[in-house]
Amino acid sequence: MNREDFQMLNNDIVYFDNGATTLKPKCVVDEVVNYYTKYTANAHRGDYDISQIVDSKYETVRDKVRDFINAEKSSEIIFTKGTTESLNTVVFGFMNTFLEKDDEVLITKSEHASNVLPWLELAKRKGIVVKFIPLNENHEVTVENINSVVTDKTKVISLAHVTNVIGDVRPIEKIGELCQNKNIIFVVDAAQSIGHIPIDVQKCNISFLGFSAHKMLGPTGIGILYGKYEYLNKMIPIEYGGGMNSYFESNGELEYKDLPERLEAGTQNIAGVLGMGVAIDYLNSLGLNNIHNYEVELKKYAVTKLKEVPNIRIYNENSNSGIVIFNVGKIFSQDLAIFLNHFGICVRAGNHCAKIVKDEINVSNTCRASFYLYNTKEEIDKLVAALMEQDKIFDIIL
Ligand code: ALA
Repeated sequence: MNREDFQMLNNDIVYFDNGATTLKPKCVVDEVVNYYTKYTANAHRGDYDISQIVDSKYETVRDKVRDFINAEKSSEIIFTKGTTESLNTVVFGFMNTFLEKDDEVLITKSEHASNVLPWLELAKRKGIVVKFIPLNENHEVTVENINSVVTDKTKVISLAHVTNVIGDVRPIEKIGELCQNKNIIFVVDAAQSIGHIPIDVQKCNISFLGFSAHKMLGPTGIGILYGKYEYLNKMIPIEYGGGMNSYFESNGELEYKDLPERLEAGTQNIAGVLGMGVAIDYLNSLGLNNIHNYEVELKKYAVTKLKEVPNIRIYNENSNSGIVIFNVGKIFSQDLAIFLNHFGICVRAGNHCAKIVKDEINVSNTCRASFYLYNTKEEIDKLVAALMEQDKIFDIIL
């Protein structure tokens, strides 16, 4: 990996907000620009040379995504706006008809809003029951904890692979096995893991998976919904329009296309799709296992160094990803983030859209440093050095 690939790093910043979005390598930016300057055309609508280039590139990315997560078929890969749209499509396009009143869906209190609110909304509309899996002392999900709340009404388990605040990595292969044995649908929110840890949807028996390209070096506004063909094929589209129908008549006769087109109404974010394809190439060239190991090394280094900071409290020392959440004394987390910004350090502060994780960690707001492949130990030293100057905070931010 070459830090020069990331032009944003020329701005003399320490970018530790990779949980929110990652920086983009030049090759990804170039691919997006190439689409707008060299081969702009719609996908699957034209009969001229440029449109054929776009069609072929667009479908090649679908194949790349299939291989990246080891899906069985390319038709199981649907382009969406991102994780939020993917999870909402699962809930309102599939679960809305699949689930019945009193059916139970298991989630946890450390899920992101996108994996809580659609379920709570469906509970209001249909009377399904949303239950929270108890977490262990490190705020982790275990198979034993899941088993303690599974009943014969449990139809779905929906979990982040890696949570965006605690940063714990869920044992998705074991949970997938449990789901297979008990005939439970397994939904995985891979927003925080997709560009960090390899995922094999077949090995983990994942029924539906959602993720966003912008958290894996790709453009914003593009993501993926994966679904096992048998489930995806029963999905009722939540958008209707061009590209997804075979024909329609004024008397109401109509026919929709097969997967994947049926679930991709309207012109898609083509530049985003092509950029995502290059991001996947970039990640593959580095190797996801290497990326994960490096992030864990950075996290361990950060925890050791941060412990030297007076008044610091770290809440997720044991989680096995590149996420560290902390507070310093009684300083409000957002004030601390503004203070760190003075040193050119970008972190996220607040509840990080996971508004009920406070019930688990007993604090509503934290500062979050989330590392990625281009971060360094020297940057962590800068964070620690800045926090050592905490007594100057009110001179700086007021
Ligand atoms: N879900 C993103 C985060 O955790 C935005 O920051």
